[in-house]
Amino acid sequence: MRTADHAIDPLFLRRWSPRAMSGAPLPTEELHRLFEAARWAPSSGNSQPWRFVVSRRDQESFASFFGLLDTGNQAWCHQAAALVVVCAASVRAAKDGSLKPLGTHAFDTGAAWMSLALQASQMGLVAHGMAGFDKVRAAEVVRVPDGVVVICMVAIGLPGDPAALPNDKLAIEHPNQRDPIEQHVFDGRF
Ligand SMILES: Cc1cc2nc3c(=O)[nH]c(=O)nc-3n(C[C@H](O)[C@H](O)[C@H](O)COP(=O)(O)O)c2cc1C
Repeated sequence: MRTADHAIDPLFLRRWSPRAMSGAPLPTEELHRLFEAARWAPSSGNSQPWRFVVSRRDQESFASFFGLLDTGNQAWCHQAAALVVVCAASVRAAKDGSLKPLGTHAFDTGAAWMSLALQASQMGLVAHGMAGFDKVRAAEVVRVPDGVVVICMVAIGLPGDPAALPNDKLAIEHPNQRDPIEQHVFDGRF
């Protein structure tokens, strides 16, 4: 049970990262609703550096995306409707055509992911971020172009029966808690 210490919209408490998914496919239109939410995230200079490389479970690429995951993530991601490699453009073309580093690409892409995750939660879908994968191989698999970096992966799916999870995942299949804001918010200085 999650409770807020200060009044917030319930959508922030409702979102969490389940692992139980049904294995059912997700219509492309539903997937597009998630990326539409991500589309409206704020970004430095409206640079929109997020790049989502998507593989649906009915596509040939799914096996190679799945193969990028750590075994701990494979244990539950085989039921995902889609796996996403989240990337970010780390440079932007200036007016003179030169490439300038974008210092906030990871921050902005994180904002887009959160929009996607909140939209998924509102639609009753699972969206689960993952750092447990092989980043170097991911860049090869999705053929990341110059100036783009791999940030994260995301599993998306329809909710499934938690009882089908391996025991170690079943044990943590519930919303977790947070530190109080005092541990993360400072008045003027650390
Ligand atoms: C960038 C990122 C990487 C994560 N990596 C993994 C992962 O590899 N495997 C996993 O099971 N969960 C992963 N998670 C899920 C986190 O453990 C989870 O978001 C955190 O415990 C907070 O729980 P909540 O999302 O349910 O609120 C990741 C989440 C994020 C945002």
